[in-house]
Amino acid sequence: MKKDIIAVYPGSFDPLTNAHLDIISRAAKLFSVLIVAVAENPNKKHLFSMSERVSMIESSANIANVKVTFFTGLLADFFVSVQADVLIRGLRAVSDFEYEFQMALMNRNLNAKIETIFLMPDQAYTFLSSSMLKEIAMLGADIKDFVPHCVEEKLKEISISKK
Ligand code: PNS
Repeated sequence: MKKDIIAVYPGSFDPLTNAHLDIISRAAKLFSVLIVAVAENPNKKHLFSMSERVSMIESSANIANVKVTFFTGLLADFFVSVQADVLIRGLRAVSDFEYEFQMALMNRNLNAKIETIFLMPDQAYTFLSSSMLKEIAMLGADIKDFVPHCVEEKLKEISISKK
């Protein structure tokens, strides 16, 4: 059995939510190193820049074996470049499954060594998504229970500047 397992947890993290943080802390307990990899997709319009997304994770997930970085291009290539062993994705509800299953199999077709492991966040987060969070934050809802403090502050700033 391999001892030092490197896990990669990829995502857009636009922005980081408590559901993501919950997955990060679960995965960090299971694997020697957890690389949280923020995806830069030039075709996708993000609310937060790459450096903002990376720094929000760095300041919220202060765990010794967690590293935060970004990648561009194929996740399968990034996986090889960091010599990862497993890919982590969160599954909040059955509705996530179809897309996640497709992505896991596509990644495995690109590289047969890529095994995806799904972790379930605490059930309190099953409804939480970054896109819904952005929507309610922009409409002035209180989001403090759903995101780390630094994310709450940044979303508030944007919401006020748009008024
Ligand atoms: O948080 P998200 O938006 O659900 O994360 C999706 C992400 C970034 C992991 C996925 O879109 C991705 O891997 N993008 C990188 C480009 C790539 O490899 N696409 C094919 C995935 S099968």
